[in-house]
Amino acid sequence: MLQEHIIELSIENEYAKTTSLEHRKKFAQFFTPFPIANLMVKWVLGNSDLKSVLEPALGLGIFSRILLSYRTDIKIKAFEVDDIIFNNAKDIFCNTDSIAIFLENYIYSDWESKYDGIICNPPYFKFHDYDNKNIIKEIEIRTSCKLNGFTNLYTLFLIKSIYQLEKNGRCAYIVPSEFLNSDYGKLVKDFLIKSKVLRHIIVINFEENVFDDALTTACIIFCANDNLTDEVCFTNIHSLQDLSKIDEIIANYSLSASNENKYKITELNPEIKWKSYYQKQNKTIFKNIVPFSMYAKVVRGIATGSNEYFTFNSSKAEQFSISKEFLLPCICRAVDAKNAFFTIQDFEELQKNDKYVFLFNAQNAHNSAVMDYIKKGEAEDIHKKFLTANRKPWYALEKRLPAPIWVSVFNRTGLRFVRNEANISNLTSYHCIYPNQNHLFSQINIDLLFAYLLTNTAKIILKDNSREYGNGLEKFEPNDINKGMMLNLGILDEKTISQILELYNTYRLLILDNKQGDEIVEMIDKIMIEKFTL
Ligand SMILES: C[S@@+](CC[C@H](N)C(=O)[O-])C[C@H]1O[C@@H](n2cnc3c(N)ncnc32)[C@H](O)[C@@H]1O
Repeated sequence: MLQEHIIELSIENEYAKTTSLEHRKKFAQFFTPFPIANLMVKWVLGNSDLKSVLEPALGLGIFSRILLSYRTDIKIKAFEVDDIIFNNAKDIFCNTDSIAIFLENYIYSDWESKYDGIICNPPYFKFHDYDNKNIIKEIEIRTSCKLNGFTNLYTLFLIKSIYQLEKNGRCAYIVPSEFLNSDYGKLVKDFLIKSKVLRHIIVINFEENVFDDALTTACIIFCANDNLTDEVCFTNIHSLQDLSKIDEIIANYSLSASNENKYKITELNPEIKWKSYYQKQNKTIFKNIVPFSMYAKVVRGIATGSNEYFTFNSSKAEQFSISKEFLLPCICRAVDAKNAFFTIQDFEELQKNDKYVFLFNAQNAHNSAVMDYIKKGEAEDIHKKFLTANRKPWYALEKRLPAPIWVSVFNRTGLRFVRNEANISNLTSYHCIYPNQNHLFSQINIDLLFAYLLTNTAKIILKDNSREYGNGLEKFEPNDINKGMMLNLGILDEKTISQILELYNTYRLLILDNKQGDEIVEMIDKIMIEKFTL
């Protein structure tokens, strides 16, 4: 029977109340909710030979607390790097010798030991927030697993733990599902497949975040170092009630669950986004689907290295006497282009309202005000920042032609495309879309491409390739779109194209006149659906 205090999570709540968010973020201290921790413990307990257990990122030890409430005859070894939480944990477990806690970095410790059970909610750190060079090297040397430098720390914990699994050992991890669909995740997925221990991936997509303050969607990974099955199941969890599905999975292991998302481990392809294994794919509804890259290329917007220094509004230009010839018109914030069309008038309006719509563009300038502003940048160490330090001269802007179409990077309600009629540059809140200039697709059809991109059909097909950040927030990297799919507009006959372009022009005029145009886009979409539905 579980004791009340374990279930309440009062220990974690108390710690969160008395410790600054800054400190918790520094160590990635987000705690596992009890119902999930309990299920993960049950998976590990499924190893009937369970004697030794590892907790690589202890925190306040929710997993160990639950484990010890079920079983006292096991030995747990735990690691933690923050001495504050470590001391708290020491106090919590002061009455038991079933757990040994070490104030050490898990990645560099204990490589020789193997465990019957490993259970973890690892720290989430992007590659630039931990010592990625040395840590990746350590993992590569020890496990012979080749890794991508952009790898997030949580996947390295997972790889090390799999390496440390004893025969018949069980491992349960809760991690952000990001790696399943990101580029850096490919090599991690490859490792999971080759290790042959992957059994279940339970994708949690609650309406609310599992972790209060972490903007991520999580997944639970169950591994078993046995030969009982060669199948991997993917299960979607949308609510707390759905958690009973996991209970069933655990209780029935290794009987084949009545799970429709089931694959032989050898069938899994590390190169593709694994959302295609657990989510209905929109592209399968349509015929004549082609890679997006056949028609256009997506590139990220200009990264300055210091927007505060490089961006200008008219008052700042006046203050530093920088004349317009040294300022590049540029959309700096996504909200500054609200509509589907961004015109010269929109740009002038922003300029008039003193919005930041220029970039300092000083290369080859000999003007004294410009030189003074460059010196000011050097006095403020702008030239030593990550991006500027690698440029020659440090204040040179990245070379990007203005793109005829922009697409927003973060989206809550589907991708938002903007036709850049003002022909100005853009920072990274938008990606640039450059239609291919080849015989397949000529300049004139940029409008046809844009008309298509406005439709729901274009968005749902591209959604297959998005990364979800939880809470309905989707992010698209340029390659998510480049590697996404679209309808093959090239098969449309002249008559249909004219029909679409006519609707498109009507839509454009409505939007420029500040009127609603949704119905027109729906008509364009209807034409597409008619032509392309299977
Ligand atoms: C996401 S929290 C999870 C805590 C707890 N296991 C839970 O599930 O509620 C991760 C914990 O790992 C610790 N940590 C961060 N980096 C670590 C490392 N390299 N080695 C060991 N522990 C680490 C953090 O201080 C934090 O307490």
